[in-house]
Amino acid sequence: MCGIVGYIGKSAALPILLNGLKRLEYRGYDSAGIAILQDNKIWIGKNRGKIKDLEIEIGGEEVGGTVGIGHTRWATHGEPSRVNAHPHLDCKGEVAIVHNGIIENYSILKSRLQAEGHKFKSQTDTEVLVHLIEMFYKGDLINAFRKSLRLVQGTFGIIVLSSLQPDYLLVARRGSPLVIGIADGETYIGSDGSAVVEHTRDVIYLEDDEMAIIGRDETQVRTLQDKKVSKSVEKLPFDLNEIQKEGYPHFMLKEISEQPRTMADSMRGRILLEEGNAKLGGLEGYWDRLRDSSRLIITACGTSWHAALIGEYLIEQLAQIHVEVEYASEFRYRNPVIDKNDVVLAISQSGETADTLAAVREAKCKGALTLGLCNVVGSSIARETDAGVYLHAGPEIGVASTKAFTSQVVVLTMMATILGRMGHLAAEDGRMITQELVEIPDKINRILQKQDQIKDIARTMADKHNALYLGRGYNYPVALEGALKMKEISYIHAEGYPAAEMKHGPIALIDENMPVVIIAVKDSVYDKILSNIEEIKARGGWVIAVVFEDDNVVKKKVDCVIEIPHTIQCLTPLLTAIPLQILAYHTAVLKGCDVDQPRNLAKSVTVE
Ligand code: F6R
Repeated sequence: MCGIVGYIGKSAALPILLNGLKRLEYRGYDSAGIAILQDNKIWIGKNRGKIKDLEIEIGGEEVGGTVGIGHTRWATHGEPSRVNAHPHLDCKGEVAIVHNGIIENYSILKSRLQAEGHKFKSQTDTEVLVHLIEMFYKGDLINAFRKSLRLVQGTFGIIVLSSLQPDYLLVARRGSPLVIGIADGETYIGSDGSAVVEHTRDVIYLEDDEMAIIGRDETQVRTLQDKKVSKSVEKLPFDLNEIQKEGYPHFMLKEISEQPRTMADSMRGRILLEEGNAKLGGLEGYWDRLRDSSRLIITACGTSWHAALIGEYLIEQLAQIHVEVEYASEFRYRNPVIDKNDVVLAISQSGETADTLAAVREAKCKGALTLGLCNVVGSSIARETDAGVYLHAGPEIGVASTKAFTSQVVVLTMMATILGRMGHLAAEDGRMITQELVEIPDKINRILQKQDQIKDIARTMADKHNALYLGRGYNYPVALEGALKMKEISYIHAEGYPAAEMKHGPIALIDENMPVVIIAVKDSVYDKILSNIEEIKARGGWVIAVVFEDDNVVKKKVDCVIEIPHTIQCLTPLLTAIPLQILAYHTAVLKGCDVDQPRNLAKSVTVE
């Protein structure tokens, strides 16, 4: 989604802002722009397309100012175009604004402003903000800023630059994150830490309904009601290397390859091998409530929702606790029956997904205990839930989620083990699960070594238009996830199904042009999967099976196999997911797709 950068200091702002915007490209966007205060006038450069298109538009122009703001836009109100790109200016060209979020009451405000004679240039909701500031300005910009924001319904992360107050930037947040990076005589602003980390790791996180008046040497934080707030300076939990490709052609491949380490990081200090148990500090004090809850509802979107489904299998099986999994977007709007005996666990890589955050608020309102499982430290869901666990998977930059997914499953496995050990799960079974879990990273390394073989399969896949992904039990959610990866980055239409459901409809699609990716590891539903394979082959389907290393049965029945090391049934998703990520990646690369920034997608979906 949209990205924001700001700079006030002693160096030329333009290269710093362009660089900051490049660091935010991963969020997904369709246009970009910059405003800089030069000789006390606002200079603006913007364009539709990528940052390189903005650079072409600027065309090497000398822009000398040391205060500026920038934005990458993911269109909501108004098509992607130069005129709709931020920054937006007031009528006199004295105030410029960049904005993330949505102004819900913009059309009422726009009519009022137009009636007062303000002229609008764009179709965006954002433009009302800058005209509101102009309308309220009577010699005090901060006051006009505050008054404007009090009228606004919706969400915002904003930066205002003005020739009326040339030594300050004004920022404010409601529902859209902002990070202020503090350095010596320079201050950097970003919608996330990746925009500032190469300059400083000392940051202030702005909370909802806070604003800041930012000078070169001083940042004052106040509430929108004008109360002073004292903030502590925190350390960003990652460094520059972690948000660079480090020699990989794409972030997605880097993140797929990092999984042995990121999964080990998610487990670090949390596995108790001898006791056959785990410990998760963030949930200390909440386990009894969880075990005694009438239901655990897990809510999430997209890939995180697939991890939630695996969590359902894990927790019901190991801990015998009733689990329900809900799309956050459905949960929040259907007036769900929840009470104070329920526990709601929200899973989100970014911790900012609007629907998941709204689901947490809904559950809180109804008295449930809310827990968060997030990757981004200090994100909104992490802060708003009563307790939670971090994934420690490091920044995920590729739009398609990979390493966050496997870390989510690792943490859910630890949660299920802890809850199981409080009840029916014997120490011996707990020891087997934890021992197998710590061996998973090495096994993933072995799968990663088979990339060439998977790439060969991708060559055939790249010519197809559709694909079916099938799995059963623990691997049904992996089939969904494999299909999602394929469709979002290669644009091949792919559907995931529980294998047995195939004969209730999708079987009609099977012919020699239909690739069917089937997870056929030797577990309790293996024989059933073999029958499903027969049904597909009888209709001429092209079958790719993910199997355990020594499986000679499936090999004889299908067109190609991808072998993975053995593990116990409940941990198979951690291994079966990897070849499907690799298959999607290589298919997309062979098709020439933009793997890290697939069309229309955004990394952190902060709108409904
Ligand atoms: C798919 C993908 C999305 C996200 C979804 C939720 O590869 O990345 O489906 O999983 O938008 O995002 P988070 O986990 O940040 O809430």
